[in-house]
Amino acid sequence: MSNTPLSSVLIDRFARKVNYLRVSITDRCDFRCVYCMAEDMQFLPRQQILSLEEIEFICRAFVGLGVEKIRITGGEPLVRKGALGLLANLGQLEGLQELVMTTNGSQLAATADQIRAAGVKRLNISLDTLNPDKFRELTRTGDLQRVLDGIDAAKAAGFERIKLNAVILKGRNHLEVVDLVNFAVEKALDISFIEEMPLGEVNGHNRAEAFYPSQQIRADLEAVFSLMPLRDSSGGPSEYWQVAASHTRVGFISPHSANFCHLCNRVRLTAEGRLLLCLGNEHSVDLKAIVRSYPNDMTKLQQAIIASMEIKPERHFFDINEQPVILRHMSNTGG
Ligand code: GTP
Ligand code: 5AD
Ligand code: SF4
Repeated sequence: MSNTPLSSVLIDRFARKVNYLRVSITDRCDFRCVYCMAEDMQFLPRQQILSLEEIEFICRAFVGLGVEKIRITGGEPLVRKGALGLLANLGQLEGLQELVMTTNGSQLAATADQIRAAGVKRLNISLDTLNPDKFRELTRTGDLQRVLDGIDAAKAAGFERIKLNAVILKGRNHLEVVDLVNFAVEKALDISFIEEMPLGEVNGHNRAEAFYPSQQIRADLEAVFSLMPLRDSSGGPSEYWQVAASHTRVGFISPHSANFCHLCNRVRLTAEGRLLLCLGNEHSVDLKAIVRSYPNDMTKLQQAIIASMEIKPERHFFDINEQPVILRHMSNTGG
């Protein structure tokens, strides 16, 4: 097996090619966003999470199997000690075409230059509101100004693209969609609007009542902006529209109103070392057990990854009207 070329072998039962790995390097975060976490969260103890060396080894295994894009996520990835060193090592991986990251922006002011220097091409930064009080309410702990400073630092660091992510909740921030797009246009950034997904119990709001569909957001925006449909996608679930006379693309991530599972090209590694085959299902393989039982055995690990394609589910069945079936919080997968 070790001499067999393994690239392009990650194809599932529905003929979908997996070429994208999302890696959550910590389940911890300095925020407690109301759609992501409960107020009181138990985080994983240190020995249960993958070491940075183990994460790098697993990423190498995936790149050897044809994965071209890796997104580092959390929790908040930058709260993990050594995150910048890991990024620098991953940035050197031969065969990896795109190293990208999703962050809440709270630590970007101090780290943006190093992240860019590590080879991270694009950044996604969460931003749900431009009102400091509302920002504190939605994140429970966050300081809007720090994130705005982080966005400016990221702009100055010269990333190829920066995308804002806004989860829109009816009655909380749905009246801000126009302001958020104006902000994105002013700063020449992209922005995605995201329908909330029912992962884990979150006290504080009713997900069905807070549902604000992408189509409604688009209608709200079209009252003010001229939006032109775009065909290109970044290999993700977003549908993009160009804001006329601007550098800004507006994306809609609509797991409820427009299922995109047939295009799925991704799997997720949790901080605990579980390879999750779908965000909305529990099918997984324990890669931590493999790397700890067979240290440095690339073949064993790659065989397990190839075999996992057999259990990748066809689609998710999110239902915001029901109690969440998936008890894991979004912070375990970083989205
Ligand atoms: P790219 O696909 O890499 O362009 O970025 P992205 O926008 O998908 O990534 P990001 O980490 O910014 O996530 C934005 C939102 O998309 C989050 O709410 C994710 O949970 C959601 N998302 C990403 N991938 C999937 C997926 O496969 N299924 C579902 N249902 N949601 C996803
Ligand atoms: N539904 C949809 N998106 C979510 N995110 C966090 N929790 C949820 C949820 N329940 C988003 C964050 C971040 C991205 C990684 O996932 O806003 O931008
Ligand atoms: Fe932290 Fe992101 Fe979850 Fe907010 S959405 S609590 S920033 S991991």
